[in-house]
Amino acid sequence: MLRIMPIFGTRPEAIKMAPIVSAFHADDRFECIVTVTGQHREMLDQVNELFGIVPNHDLNILQPGQTLSDILTRTINGLDRLLAAEKPDAVVVQGDTTTSTAGAIAAFYRGIPVIHAEAGLRSHNLHSPFPEEANRKITTQVASLHLAPTSTSKANLQAEGVNEADIVVTGNTVIDALLATVGKEIAFTDPVLEELASSGKRILLVTTHRRENQGDAMRGVGRALARIAKSDPELVIVLPAHKNPVVREAVLPAIEGLTNVIITEPLAYGEFTRMLSLATVVLTDSGGVQEEAPSLGKPVLVMRDNTERPEAVVAGTVKLIGTDEERIVEETTRLFQDAEYFESMASAVNPYGDGLAASRTVAAAAQLLGVGQRTQEFIS
Ligand code: UD1
Ligand code: UDP
Repeated sequence: MLRIMPIFGTRPEAIKMAPIVSAFHADDRFECIVTVTGQHREMLDQVNELFGIVPNHDLNILQPGQTLSDILTRTINGLDRLLAAEKPDAVVVQGDTTTSTAGAIAAFYRGIPVIHAEAGLRSHNLHSPFPEEANRKITTQVASLHLAPTSTSKANLQAEGVNEADIVVTGNTVIDALLATVGKEIAFTDPVLEELASSGKRILLVTTHRRENQGDAMRGVGRALARIAKSDPELVIVLPAHKNPVVREAVLPAIEGLTNVIITEPLAYGEFTRMLSLATVVLTDSGGVQEEAPSLGKPVLVMRDNTERPEAVVAGTVKLIGTDEERIVEETTRLFQDAEYFESMASAVNPYGDGLAASRTVAAAAQLLGVGQRTQEFIS
């Protein structure tokens, strides 16, 4: 049996890796050695619990206020010893977090092939998102197999000189995870959310955490949310707050105590996808949410100046609005008040996947390791 080691450490990686782990576990050509770094703790464990993933190894690296170099060095040190002992035939890393890039470097240094899931996303600005654009470019340099979610991401890789034979367009496994979860009508743990679900009220679902938005921009987001809430008391804002204290200290003071704002702890994935399907409009700086919401036909306002996920912008369900307070208020208000404009953004599109990305991932890994053929690619 071939030994395959998925390595991940944060919430979005866990969500996107869950279908991959499950597909490797179900395939008797592979032994799957799940390794987590613990870059996130509660937010990682919450996902693993939902998908029934019990890691074989946990580096438990999280430190409050961790710097990027803390994450990088603690991950590489921990993984180097583990890779020497476990000798996997290949590792799988996902996306653009520092765990992901550290995992790729550690494996590359040990001569172990790196399979990069969600390869080829590019904003074309090295400093935004920071440090993700740099992280994914570094991972590209050391990967043996590049699993591009869409034809756009494949083209980005080819433009940088990656051989076409080393790229497979799989779709994004986030759609596999979403489709496996969203129809389940999972009950909210918090009764306030259950009450909201049956109230029929219009919901603005908000998430924010990006490093480049922390500080002034995020304080502006908090002020914008307070203005939106006060100007439309019938609207309910739901904000599942990221665990990062820097984020909470910036956003929450302006909105705490407002009666039509519900601030929660991070929602378990099943609860979050249900809230996503209940939401009228989504306001976010998240990568994963930009991919999921269009599948559910939800208009998404992205609090960033650029995106490495242009497909849904082109399709018209996602709009980049930046982080200016006035603009956030204006754009959000317009979506709630202008029915024609709302309808123009509220069509369901699936540019990021068809729910079969994990099986294409396993097939591509099998081909890389000489035990199978890749399947038909995702056509985006
Ligand atoms: C990380 C990723 C980012 C990804 C995001 C998803 C990097 C550099 N950043 O950013 O690409 O979009 O995750 O959410 O890899 N914390 C906890 N418990 C948790 C999670 C976080 O306490 O479960 C707190 C800790 O104080 C930690 C801080 O949040 O120091 C920041 O976490 P970190 O992983 O460094 O950065 P994120 O902004 O979460
Ligand atoms: N998500 C979740 N609970 C929440 C907020 C988000 O499960 O309270 C999920 C969301 O559905 C998406 C992922 O977390 O799949 C996005 O994670 P995040 O925004 O932290 O990171 P990014 O995608 O920006 O890297």
